[in-house]
Order: sequence, then C-alpha cells, then structure tokens
Amino acid sequence: MNELKIKAAAREKMKGYCRVCPRCDGKACAGEVPGMGGLMTGTSFINNVESLAMYNLNMRTIHQAADPDLSVQAFGRMFKMPVFVAPLTGVSLNMGGALDEAEMVKNLVNGALAAGSFSFTGDGPAEEIYTAGLEALKNAAGMGIPVIKPRHTESIALRLKQAEEAGAFAVGIDIDGAGLAAMARSGNPVGPKTFYQLRELVQMTELPFVLKGIMTAQEAEMAVEIGAAAIVVSNHGGRTLDYTPGVAEVLPEIVERVKGEIFVLADGGVRTGVDVLKMLALGADAVLIGRPALWGVFGGGVEGVRLTLEKMAAQLKHAMLMTGCANVKAIDYSIIY
Ligand SMILES: Cc1cc2nc3c(=O)[nH]c(=O)nc-3n(C[C@H](O)[C@H](O)[C@H](O)COP(=O)(O)O)c2cc1C
Repeated sequence: MNELKIKAAAREKMKGYCRVCPRCDGKACAGEVPGMGGLMTGTSFINNVESLAMYNLNMRTIHQAADPDLSVQAFGRMFKMPVFVAPLTGVSLNMGGALDEAEMVKNLVNGALAAGSFSFTGDGPAEEIYTAGLEALKNAAGMGIPVIKPRHTESIALRLKQAEEAGAFAVGIDIDGAGLAAMARSGNPVGPKTFYQLRELVQMTELPFVLKGIMTAQEAEMAVEIGAAAIVVSNHGGRTLDYTPGVAEVLPEIVERVKGEIFVLADGGVRTGVDVLKMLALGADAVLIGRPALWGVFGGGVEGVRLTLEKMAAQLKHAMLMTGCANVKAIDYSIIY
C-alpha cells in the first residue's frame, strides 16, 4: 500500500462525497456541508490552504541537525511525531457510509497509535457517534481525546464522566460547533458558552481540558483563564462559519499572547509534512490532520491511517533537516522566509 493507492481506493469508497483531489484546497467541494467541503462559499476552508501556502521556508544546510528528532510531549505523554488525528464524525452524512461510524473511529484510533501518534474522537447528532469513539478509546487503553459538542451543561457533564470512565487521557469541547444546524435538527441543541459556563465545565473534570475552535487571541486568553490545558486553533476545517481567515494567518498572533501558558494545537489545510513544519514555525506545539486521515481510513483502514501519518512524519523530518531544526522545540519563526 502507498499514498497513491490509498487515495485511489478512498476516491472509490467516498464517491459522491469526496473527490480526493490531487490538491485538496476546498475549491471543488465548496459549499458541500454535509459532505467534505467548507460551508457556503467554502472560503474558510480555502483560506486555510491558501494561508499556509503563502509562507515559504528559509533553506539552511550548514548545521549539525542531520537526524532531526520528531518526538513531542503532549498531555504528559511522549509521541513519535507532532501530528495527531482530528475528531472526524458523520460517516453517513459526510463521507458516504462505506464504513460505519464505529469501524471508522476504531481504525482512526488504532492507526494513529500504530504510528506513535493518537486520535481525537468526536460527537454528533446520533448518540452512537460519541459512544463509538469512547468504545474505540476503551479498547486502546484510553489513548485519545473525546471532543464533546457544546450541548446543554447536563449533557456535557454526562459525557465528561463517560470520557473519564473510558480512561481517556484528556477531554475537550469543540466550542466552534456552537451553530451546527444538524445538532439542533436532531433535538441536540448546541450553542455558545459563557466564560463562566466553560470554567465550570473545566472544573467538573480532573482530565486536562481541550478547547477546540479558537480563532482569536482574545478567546485564547480566555481559554487560559478558564484553566484549559490546550487549545486547538481551528475553524473546524471551514465548516462552521463562512469567511473566517485561514488558521495559519491567525496562529502567530494567538501564540504571541498565550505561548507557554497553554498547549497550542492547530489544524486546517495541513496536507504534507512541510505544512506541519510551517504550523510549528508559526507557533503551534503540534498539529492535527482532518481530511487526509479520512482518505487514509477509507482507502486503507488502520494501515492507511498509519501510512498517512508516517508519510507526513518522513516529510517533516526531511524539511527539518533542510531548514536546520534538530528537534520540534527548535522550530521557530526564523525558518519562515
Ligand atoms: C467530515 C468532517 C467531519 C468532522 N467532524 C468533526 C467533529 O465531529 N468534531 C470536531 O471537533 N471537528 C470535526 N471536524 C473538523 C476537524 O476536526 C478538523 O478541525 C478539520 O478537518 C481540519 O481541517 P483539514 O480537514 O483541512 O485538515 C470534521 C471535519 C470534517 C471534514
């Protein structure tokens, strides 16, 4: 199995939902939500890809970083690479149903672990979406992070408890799911949370808390103040609001405000190890991949996910060597041209 074969198989399995374009930039699938695209004009998804593409790298080859170290510490654990799998749900609605929800999330979790990474799991309108994620984590010694939709407080409280019981090493909320119509339609209303409501939720659990969907420096500061352990700078792959800037555009400003106070993850438009390097240079501590992991899982199951992550790690290692970064901590803005 290789990347081309995985993508070809994914193209078949996701027919009518994802074209698995040679360059996945949100243009062909603009407006396809449900589906794999970005909301409405698709601008937020497109901006993710274009904002990353705007940055070029300083090539530096007079140095000693011949064997870059990709390992990273996150949530008190060591991982082989600073690339994790984003929460991805809604098989029948978004991806065509060639896999069922439980199979997909199990393969994402196990594929990520096989690569020395880990996967987030998600939440959605059907009850089974969140529980399938928990089941996958239970069977993988809790190695992953369930991400709960911004539901009513009691519903979140229940799911926080379930995450603890599943042995997850952290838990989170995708706060940018506040306006998701599919949740409301299914009788699971979601909405924005106040600073105090979020602080209460963070205090409800002993687990490190991740706030996913932060796009401004001000809300990143609020995440620090409520006691979150990590943020994901993310616009949900462009699926929750049209016309947000790209993640790579807002990341430096956010990091400048909160670096050192909170673990900063970022996602949106990361397609290669070079994109990973750019996100890290812009200040992220680690990145998540969304759509590429879905091609991996639809095109090749557990192995497909593992190979997708390992390919990105190999590209990242090469790019670190070529920019003179001996390890992940040594990557900074100086490699951006
Ligand atoms: C089909 C699909 C389903 C998703 N489901 C969820 C979800 O349940 N929870 C969540 O927090 N994010 C969800 N996301 C957003 C991803 O976690 C991630 O933020 C985004 O895909 C990153 O952008 P990328 O796909 O360009 O890498 C989903 C994205 C896609 C494409």
